[in-house]
Amino acid sequence: MNSSVKITDDIYYVGVNDRDTALFENLWPLDKGVSYNSYLILDEKTALIDTVKESKISEFFDKIRHLLNGRALDYLIINHMEPDHSGSIPELLQEFPGIKIVGNKTTFQFIKDLYKVEDNFQEIKDGSVLNLGKHTLKFYLTPMVHWPETMMTYDEKDKILFSGDAFGGFGTLDGGIFDDEVRIDFFEDEIRRYFSNIIGKYTKMVQRALNKLKDANIDIDIIAATHGPVWRKDPKRIIDLYDKWSRCETEKGVVIVYGSMYGNTEEMAEYVARRLAEEGIKEIKIMSVSKTHISYIINEIWKYKGVILGSCTYNQGLFPYMESLVQWLAHNDIKNHVLGIFGTYGWSGGGVSTLVKYNEQMKWPLVYEPVEAKLSAKSEDFKKLDELAKAMAREINS
Ligand code: FEO
Repeated sequence: MNSSVKITDDIYYVGVNDRDTALFENLWPLDKGVSYNSYLILDEKTALIDTVKESKISEFFDKIRHLLNGRALDYLIINHMEPDHSGSIPELLQEFPGIKIVGNKTTFQFIKDLYKVEDNFQEIKDGSVLNLGKHTLKFYLTPMVHWPETMMTYDEKDKILFSGDAFGGFGTLDGGIFDDEVRIDFFEDEIRRYFSNIIGKYTKMVQRALNKLKDANIDIDIIAATHGPVWRKDPKRIIDLYDKWSRCETEKGVVIVYGSMYGNTEEMAEYVARRLAEEGIKEIKIMSVSKTHISYIINEIWKYKGVILGSCTYNQGLFPYMESLVQWLAHNDIKNHVLGIFGTYGWSGGGVSTLVKYNEQMKWPLVYEPVEAKLSAKSEDFKKLDELAKAMAREINS
């Protein structure tokens, strides 16, 4: 069986799906899997653009061998060195010992350190070109999207941008490869999850990369990322979304995230949500930090302007799952949100005060004073939650 897919006359999708790995980077849930995309150009010279995770080599090599049909592989272009894309390099070198590895100076440092490979390098710089025959590839260095060596490769003939992780997301390609063949709303959500979880710390560098592409004034007919669908029908759509997300432009809505042991903090979350609905807010999501992986919570937070965090007190501090969420939020410098805080305590404080402390790093404007109830909310606490909801609704609708 050969399941490679023709993209243009002589360019093929040779990527693979991973439905086995539970956590991407051993961190982010892959309940809908992920694809590792690689592309093969069959010109006078042959070139492979990126590889796949080591565990998927067998299927990957079958596709390449079938399409090469006995020809040599002349070039391997490396847009990104994270092992979900570079993992096949050592075996590829064994199969094609004459291959030239094309990358930038930093790429080669990573290859040496990760795979002890020292030879076969062909270094390119920003704006360099590589002629394959009919196709000419031009390279754009886009550092820190999201590793230092990341770059993009543009095929001038077919106007394809091979963009690395940029514009890519989670989710396997189940038959459909192109944006016009798949349920695009599913992929947009999973691309935002990939962006917010993995690339979101580097929004400035994403903006720099997007501006570099704009300044280059290149026509982009197809975007071929290292994950997710190939955008041939509407590449502008994903560029615009990436621009919006990397400017941290948020939508009207509120995410309420709570940590609750016995339901008392959850009750406050439900109450605030109802009050927000009465204030006219339509997009309201309540998420339990114990049940929902922070990957999905971060994705929703990225989308909406309003965030309300509620935590019980645990061992005189924050509920542990809530702590891992706010640690992440504080470390990743996310912008353009407004915040509400509530919580409970039993005999010592520690939940609400720790949330307030984390917000010293996050620096999100508080819409109302933190609301803290002793064990469970009483009428005076609910009154404060009314005010919190009103203040949040005013901010969202402003
Ligand atoms: Fe898809 Fe940064 O690896």
